Amino acid sequence: MKVGVSLLAADYSALGEQIKKLEKAGVDFFSFDIMDGHFVPNLTVGPATIKSCRNATTLPIECHLMIENPEKFLQEFLDAGCDIITVHLESTNKMKDLINAVKSYGRKVSIAIKPETPTTAVIPFLDSVDMILVMTVDPGFAGQPFIDESEKIKALKSEIERRKLNVEIMIDGGVNNETAKIVKKAGADMLVSASYILKNDYKTAIENLRNA
Ligand code: DX5
Repeated sequence: MKVGVSLLAADYSALGEQIKKLEKAGVDFFSFDIMDGHFVPNLTVGPATIKSCRNATTLPIECHLMIENPEKFLQEFLDAGCDIITVHLESTNKMKDLINAVKSYGRKVSIAIKPETPTTAVIPFLDSVDMILVMTVDPGFAGQPFIDESEKIKALKSEIERRKLNVEIMIDGGVNNETAKIVKKAGADMLVSASYILKNDYKTAIENLRNA
């Protein structure tokens, strides 16, 4: 199980130091939640923050684009150094172009779906992405209660296995030592957590999630 930390709940006055501490504590990747105040009712950081944090770690950085018209900003996030670009299915009708653009840059691409979006909606893209991000909260904020999407995760896992695809299932939202067990049982491969890791001892929290 790969464990990523969402920096949405990070201390932005000391982001670089926090990144280094989290890397030392054993996190596998970093997730930046990019929000534009339109696709989700919250506003966070842009490519400049990613660029400044890029040199703080050699671990993969995932940019979770919760923005309208993601194609408008894709190049800037790629140039800023994102290793994984996550695009919400609900945010664009140019998903194929976005997937091709990310892959032409040699980076990984992931499609995110909100709790209200059915698994069937991502099936057409399964053979061209590296991950599917199943959101277990409505996107926008850290610290929200977990929504159990086990049936969605199981359906996705069985389709991936049936077609022998190399697609990982990533989970984000309300992930903690208890909910990690639920989603792992359903077939999750990667976890993203903000509150549970950042509000506890980093090393212990990361290990609890990895060994859930
Ligand atoms: C929600 C974000 C999640 C969120 C997770 O829109 O995409 O990454 O920060 O926060 P927790 O782990 O606190 O639910």
